[in-house]
Amino acid sequence: MKRIFATSRIGDPAENRLREHGYELEVFQGPEAPPKTLIIEKVKSGIDALITTLRDRIDAEVFEAGKGSLKVVAQIAVGFDNINRADANKYKVPFTHTADVLTEATAEFGFFMLGVLARKMYSSERLVREQKWPSWHPFLPFLGDEVTGKTIAIIGTGRIGLAMIKKCSGFDMNILCYDPAYHNDKYIASIQELMDLRYATGIQKERTWIKYVEIEEALSGADYVSIHVPLLLDIDTDKPTYHFINEKTLKLMKPTAYLVNTSRGPVVDEKALAKALKDKVIAGAALDVFEKEPLPADSPLLDPEIADRTRLFHHFASGAQITRLSVDPDKGMAGRTAQAVIDVLEGSYGGDPTKMPYVVNKEAFEKKS
Ligand code: GLV
Repeated sequence: MKRIFATSRIGDPAENRLREHGYELEVFQGPEAPPKTLIIEKVKSGIDALITTLRDRIDAEVFEAGKGSLKVVAQIAVGFDNINRADANKYKVPFTHTADVLTEATAEFGFFMLGVLARKMYSSERLVREQKWPSWHPFLPFLGDEVTGKTIAIIGTGRIGLAMIKKCSGFDMNILCYDPAYHNDKYIASIQELMDLRYATGIQKERTWIKYVEIEEALSGADYVSIHVPLLLDIDTDKPTYHFINEKTLKLMKPTAYLVNTSRGPVVDEKALAKALKDKVIAGAALDVFEKEPLPADSPLLDPEIADRTRLFHHFASGAQITRLSVDPDKGMAGRTAQAVIDVLEGSYGGDPTKMPYVVNKEAFEKKS
């Protein structure tokens, strides 16, 4: 019987699907991640598949432990910076992720974060709850900033960046796009067509626009900056994204601008951001991801002095019921993870990992001609 170890629960429907498939599934019950020593021990015991979360560091040590038995690592996330791709390739173990199914949920959460931040919804609710709302007033005790008609910079135009663009265009925003590696000119042209149509038919009062620009123009021209790049270190690429938002790039932003990050924590230099918020270099930030998760108690982002302009969430952007738990691989991360395991263990697609839709490191299996 094929054996699977999951470093976390992935919900009853997907777990049952694997069991009904005849696999022996052992699940670490958490809620925290298991220690790496336990993962190594399970892999060494000869499991066929390992289901991981972004909290697990999967590297040569793990692949070495699974030599001859481990056939697939299936990650329940789209991001896979916790998995050492070079090591997976060296050991020829395919690893999979859950792209696509969380695109819309993550983008909508990013947009809602932006709304909560800009319209000061948290401060407003606190006022009511704490009985500190003296009276309706045209501008006291504070006002928020509109989203409609403003300009957003989308940093990274992969799947989630494009979905964010779609949502922002529906709110009549102008859009500056920046991507260090990839331009989707066709998508951007289609959005411009939709914007023009909305204006021409009177659905939208002001004409809006979208274009690719360089990073300086994106950061300096935007009222909102939303980050959608993967975490890439300089050992991985000549276009690293580690601390892409730092003291220097924060200074390019308008003092009235807001930053939203739903990508990976280390893309933002948190120390520099906390200082920029304190010194009012920018107006506010909403973060769903952190350099260290959970956010440590001594994080400068928890400074009460910046609490009014800093919204913090628990890496929750894809955290919606269907997106996380649906057993349907076209709808849920759990379903896609289970399907990815089945594809590899059953040798679907002629047993060729380069043809399996959820495998990331296809390059390790390409036949050299
Ligand atoms: C979540 O952060 C993911 O990468 O899916």
